[in-house]
Amino acid sequence: SSPLRLGIAGLGTVGIGVIKIVQKHAGLLAKRTGREITITAVSARDRMKNRDADISAYRWEDDPMAVAMADDVDLYVELVGGDNGIASDSIKAALRAGKDVVTANKALLAMHGQELAELAESLGRVIRFEAAVAGGIPVIKTMTESLAGNSTTRVMGVMNGTCNYILTRMESAGLPYEAVFEEARQLGYLEADPNLDVGGIDAGHKLAILSSIAFGTRVNFDAVEIEGIERVSIDDINRASDMGYRIKLLGIAQMTPRGLEQRMSPCLVPADSPLGQLAGGTNMIVVEGDSVGQIVLRGAGAGEGPTASAVMSDIVDIARGIRLPVFGQPATGLKPAQPARTAVP
Ligand code: NAP
Ligand code: HSE
Repeated sequence: SSPLRLGIAGLGTVGIGVIKIVQKHAGLLAKRTGREITITAVSARDRMKNRDADISAYRWEDDPMAVAMADDVDLYVELVGGDNGIASDSIKAALRAGKDVVTANKALLAMHGQELAELAESLGRVIRFEAAVAGGIPVIKTMTESLAGNSTTRVMGVMNGTCNYILTRMESAGLPYEAVFEEARQLGYLEADPNLDVGGIDAGHKLAILSSIAFGTRVNFDAVEIEGIERVSIDDINRASDMGYRIKLLGIAQMTPRGLEQRMSPCLVPADSPLGQLAGGTNMIVVEGDSVGQIVLRGAGAGEGPTASAVMSDIVDIARGIRLPVFGQPATGLKPAQPARTAVP
């Protein structure tokens, strides 16, 4: 059958990771999907920048919109980032031009997921985003496909590797928050705006997306109650440790009699539990379903290889013709959820 022709916007950590996999595993991917996966066009900000992959065979476009709408692109892969602007505009343009979309953009989906899902479905297109939550961990697929026979009762976990690194390192090295924050900055772990990490916002974006899938509700990032890790002191960590606990930035989403609770905050977890044992830099997602019980997923939540691996799983699904609704059920059927923090009259 005909090749699946990709157009990739964003040639940073994730975009270059995807290109490397497409190049390295061309034969394997063709065997697994029954068709060739090729790259036609790419876009980033700086044409002259040295990239860690050979992109000379692909048409360069200065503007992601040109990739999104190109006649020789079947699937638009948005890896620019940002919760609005060119990421959003180019995704909408691609959908309107009759293309499916793969993205890793959790911020955009948390803020505008409902609107994008409705647009995609009205046009008969799909948006896939396995990489948007917990990087390489296949949590979206697990929840939308593998656990589709369950009613989800709770989803929780550690969804920001940088915060997990900072908290873990504070304990292991006995260092104050400020010193480990600086270390994380020097190691390049922090987002360009570090408040997205340490303020719990990035993890909150991910929790809002998971809540939508888990409870069939519209993504509602504004209803996530967020407290970051900036005020966690080495004394807090030591006191927790003395009692056999660790502090983790934990996200919890559950339906309560008062409504949907979505909370991202530093929590005490038993030091000998799977969450307590989680290594710095990694992620863990726990999903509870009425039939399956508890599922625990652990792995790399960020970085070139793991994130590109997740993007590729979406590309492969689309090459195979798998066309799931964006949040696991039709967007028009998703209900606004009553946030649990709002008192029920
Ligand atoms: P990144 O390394 O900062 O790369 C961003 C890319 O977008 C760069 O190639 C940049 O161009 C390009 N770009 C920025 N503004 C542009 C514009 N106006 N027009 C065209 N190109 C533009 O970002 P990343 O880490 O790969 O992240 C990409 C997406 O994946 C984001 O949504 C992020 O949240 C998500 N994600 C990342 C990770 C991770 O571990 N990195 C994990 C999960 C999800 P130049 O290279 O020319 O500057
Ligand atoms: N800043 C994020 C983290 C990147 O540390 O987990 C992956 O989403």
